Amino acid sequence: MKQFLYASDIGSISEALAEAKAVKATPFAWKHLGADRTIMLVFFNSSLRTRLSSQKAALNLGMNPIVLNIGQDSWKLETGLGVVMDSDKSEHLLEAIPVMGSYCDIIGVRSFASLTDREADYAETVLNQFIRYSGRPVISLESATVHPCQAFADLLTIEEHRTKARPKVVLSWAPHPRALPQAVPDSFAEWMLAADVELVITQPEGYELDPRFTSGARIEYDQMKALEGADFVYAKNWSCPGVTRPSDYGRILCDDRSWTIDAAHMAVTDNAFFMHCLPVRRNVIVTDEVIDSPRSLVIPEAANRVVSAQVVMKRMLETL
Ligand code: CP
Repeated sequence: MKQFLYASDIGSISEALAEAKAVKATPFAWKHLGADRTIMLVFFNSSLRTRLSSQKAALNLGMNPIVLNIGQDSWKLETGLGVVMDSDKSEHLLEAIPVMGSYCDIIGVRSFASLTDREADYAETVLNQFIRYSGRPVISLESATVHPCQAFADLLTIEEHRTKARPKVVLSWAPHPRALPQAVPDSFAEWMLAADVELVITQPEGYELDPRFTSGARIEYDQMKALEGADFVYAKNWSCPGVTRPSDYGRILCDDRSWTIDAAHMAVTDNAFFMHCLPVRRNVIVTDEVIDSPRSLVIPEAANRVVSAQVVMKRMLETL
């Protein structure tokens, strides 16, 4: 595997889930694969789970992880092409990427969306520069429009807890005080559709996700109606994807707290499990009562981030 951004990069979803279960059962069985190998984990943005789970996955495989926080540990990097570099950014990605590539065997990159330039974000401009110039396999550790390690872990968590062949999974928009990217809901929808669960997406008008990730999902603007009979409720905020009005891209269009997932929302489900990728704003996205309930999967979901990252790194090591 040379790059990991999309569900299609993993190939057969059922084979990937079987491999994930094997890796989870015997995490150190492939330690020989990473001997004398190095993974560079490059962070343009803050992270708790991705940073730690990626390091743990690399260590389980016998690899040496190097973590670089851009702008804190390194020079500030210019990402735009053709710019006159007279700002505070001392180095261009065009030099920094091949230099980083020369120090490692695999690169993982966390680089959020700008939320100001839809075209550049949806072209995955920063991540694609790593793919083009590093000469190494590249993992998206949440880039502008996708968070595949999260979606793979979410799918594994659903696989471990489902009691029906085709569970009903509801992706629900929820309010948030800051404008957030669409990477998590984009990848979640993409992976659920690839796994063939019954996916329903509910959001206020104007928050329609890019159809390249959601084609085939049922869209329901009435949140309570969407949640009826759900087996899994996946809450997430995202800012306006700019699908219907490009000028609204990255904006907050709604702060309606009736979308916060509370006990009344969960009561119309089929005793659903609650999921969220974390970090989560308590009593904004979800009430304490719901996230602290026995049906909350947020911790096992986060724990599975090690497993998803390890499967991806293992496959990359096998093809080096
Ligand atoms: N879910 C997730 O990616 O968490 P972090 O931003 O803390 O890595």
